[in-house]
Amino acid sequence: MSRTVSIDAARYLGVARPERVRDDLAIEVTPKSFPPYLDDLAADWVASVALPAFKLVKQRRGETRGFCAIGTGTGLDALGAIEVFAPEVVGVTDVHDEIVASARDNILRNLNAPEGIRLLSGTGDLLSPLAGVAPRFDVIYENLPNVPTNASVALAGERASSSFFGPRPEDVPAPVQAALLTLHYLALVQAREYLVPGGVMLSMLGARVPLQSFLDMAALAGYRPSFLTYGWKIQAEAVEMLNGHAEWQRRGMGPFHFYRIEDLEAAFADLEPEAAAPRALEIEAELASRALDADAALALHQRGTRIGHTYAVLHSELP
Ligand SMILES: C[S@@+](CC[C@H](N)C(=O)[O-])C[C@H]1O[C@@H](n2cnc3c(N)ncnc32)[C@H](O)[C@@H]1O
Repeated sequence: MSRTVSIDAARYLGVARPERVRDDLAIEVTPKSFPPYLDDLAADWVASVALPAFKLVKQRRGETRGFCAIGTGTGLDALGAIEVFAPEVVGVTDVHDEIVASARDNILRNLNAPEGIRLLSGTGDLLSPLAGVAPRFDVIYENLPNVPTNASVALAGERASSSFFGPRPEDVPAPVQAALLTLHYLALVQAREYLVPGGVMLSMLGARVPLQSFLDMAALAGYRPSFLTYGWKIQAEAVEMLNGHAEWQRRGMGPFHFYRIEDLEAAFADLEPEAAAPRALEIEAELASRALDADAALALHQRGTRIGHTYAVLHSELP
């Protein structure tokens, strides 16, 4: 059954006083939509990773007239982007009608001036629902699931957010598949047709594979990549996620990297994600001797050790 949650916009979006969205957001969460983590905003990707990334892009790029979220879930990512960028056109897609319909309602009913925005929405794969109707966007955002291969079966027990939607007909380079980056890569490839020249794709990536594989993926897709932010998070849904990655390792993918929280705290010290980004490869190298593969991390987690992972916001610019 759907439920409606009430969210303090200032707290969730990290702004003093929201201008474009309502102070109290009323967000419908449907059975298929990916729920926000309101009790622990540090675990919530939109609040803790996407919003800071949007603010940095706004500072660095200035005007953003078109914004698009691929796989929007509840639409909170688009509401955050509207607050930060004040775009004229917003696109959202997701794979179920139920999710897209409620995201559309969630966006429109939580705006102070919904008539000021042209909202394009569609159900289907990646950007394809917007083919033919969307203008080109300045910024496209994605926080897509990591997908094992382009012809795999969803692992038992996976959430809707991380499950796999059918075999992929596209060519995906083998290293991209092995690093579980298939959907992120395909989103980049499709986005070339939906970005203005110099437009930017922002990919939210749990960095459980080497950072270099993110840079390589974006370069293979035809972009100039860099890291916008680099940070760490406690592994959410730890049992399910560690088991899933352990199973993928047994199928020959990975290995995937996790860390004890104390090691992450020490490696990042007080570095903010923005300051860590230009040093990301160096910090990753410093952490290398403390990396745990999925089996080791799972075993430690079962004995009560807190496990986390690093993340990166990949900033891929169209040349
Ligand atoms: C981890 S959730 C992210 C939700 C929200 N964008 C956020 O940042 O919190 C991933 C979303 O991607 C959607 N998704 C999965 N595969 C997709 C695809 N091939 N095309 C479009 N959306 C997809 C899922 O339904 C889900 O809503």
